[in-house]
Amino acid sequence: MKLPDIKILDEKNKLLHKKSEEIKFPMDKKDIDLLQNMLTYLEMSQIEKYSEKYNLRPGMGLAFVQVGVPKRAFVICNENDDGEFDKYIIINPEIISMSEEMIYVGEGEGCLSINREVEGIVPRHARITIKAQNEDGEEYTMRVREDLAVAFQHEIDHLNGIMFTDHIDPKNPFKDADKMREI
Ligand code: NI
Repeated sequence: MKLPDIKILDEKNKLLHKKSEEIKFPMDKKDIDLLQNMLTYLEMSQIEKYSEKYNLRPGMGLAFVQVGVPKRAFVICNENDDGEFDKYIIINPEIISMSEEMIYVGEGEGCLSINREVEGIVPRHARITIKAQNEDGEEYTMRVREDLAVAFQHEIDHLNGIMFTDHIDPKNPFKDADKMREI
C-alpha cells in the first residue's frame, strides 16, 4: 500500500472551528478521490506495519475539513470482528433520531487534529439514525450504535466546527459520568 499524501490540520487552525458547507452534486472527481485517499490513510494508520513505518497515529475517522476542505463529508474506517475494514464515506449527514441513552468512551476520545492528551468524558448518544447522501447524491438512512455511533457524532461535530474537547468542562472533566454508560 502507498501512503496517500494528505496533510491533517491541527486544532489551532481556524478552519476546524468553522461550519463546513453542504456538498453539491455532481461531486468534483478531485473530492471523491481525496475522500478515498483519506480512507486509505486511516486503514494504514490501523495496520501496525504501516503505522510504525510512517509514524502514523491510529485513527478511525476523518472529516473533510481536517484535510483543509470545508465541505460536509467525513470518512470512517472501522476494523470489524472478522479483522476486515468497513469503510464509510458519509456526505451531507443529518442526525434524524437519537437514543435517550448516553454513553462515553472510557479511555477518552481521540482526534487526529489534537496532538495532546485530553482528559475527560464526552457524552454521546448510544444510537443514532442519520440521513446522508452517497457520491451520486442519492439519499439513504443509516442507524449506528456504540463505538460507531460515537465516531459518527464526533465527525458530524467536525462539520459544525466542534472539537470533542469543546464538550469537556476543564473544571470538571468527568462530570455526569454516573448518568451515562461507559463503553
Ligand atoms: Ni476528530
